[in-house]
Amino acid sequence: MEMRTPLIAGNWKMHKTVEEAVQVARQLVGLVRGVTEVEVMIAPPYMALYPVSDAVKGSNVEVGAQNLFWEKEGAYTGEISAPMIRTAGCRYGIIGHSERRQYFGETDETVNKRLKAALQEKLIPVMCVGESEEERERKETFSVLDKQVKDGLKDLFSDDLGSLVIAYEPVWAIGTGKTATSKQAQEVHLFLRSLLEKSFGNVLAQKVRILYGGSVKPANISELMGMPDLDGALVGGASLDAETFSEIVRYNGR
Ligand code: PGA
Repeated sequence: MEMRTPLIAGNWKMHKTVEEAVQVARQLVGLVRGVTEVEVMIAPPYMALYPVSDAVKGSNVEVGAQNLFWEKEGAYTGEISAPMIRTAGCRYGIIGHSERRQYFGETDETVNKRLKAALQEKLIPVMCVGESEEERERKETFSVLDKQVKDGLKDLFSDDLGSLVIAYEPVWAIGTGKTATSKQAQEVHLFLRSLLEKSFGNVLAQKVRILYGGSVKPANISELMGMPDLDGALVGGASLDAETFSEIVRYNGR
């Protein structure tokens, strides 16, 4: 019944020079060789996308961008487009990370534009959603997520979304060492899947991978992955070191 291949993704954020990125990527390739039941992705900074893609070529490590702009090309100083990302060797694009929402004015509307641009370029979008600590305290978690998902996926149909990955990252758990308990995470993941089912039908809802993110480490990954609606993880801090990240990838002991 279960058809979703788990995805363990590493978000390197603004870390590593090109040289360091290539070195860690090479090391990771060696450490996760032979892993077949789990897909592995790393998202280095833009400048390292091409050399890292080159370094992991032919391996089971895929590369993703941390963001992308919705126009294909033009006078948009400082921006990087989906075709540029794909031709640099990426298969994935992270969209709407909470740090982009918090520090760079990302909204559900811009998430929606980026998502469409990624899909058009056949990149696998990893759309990030998550509530803040205050929103959770005010018991607004579900309404916040409902809006982020609905507006993020606006004007899209189930036929468009077969490759979609959603990353649930409670903002209060990112980089704080506070992980949602596996039970808290499962509750939200189930909610997100039911939202998808309502809008796009059961077939798509069962297909979409929903990752958890926020202080994921080798010590907590197995328990999280034991939850039925958790299909992987988006890992920040613990993805920077190849050895630590490979332990997360090999959470099932294989
Ligand atoms: P963290 O970051 O693992 O360092 O908490 C997760 C993320 O922001 O994707």
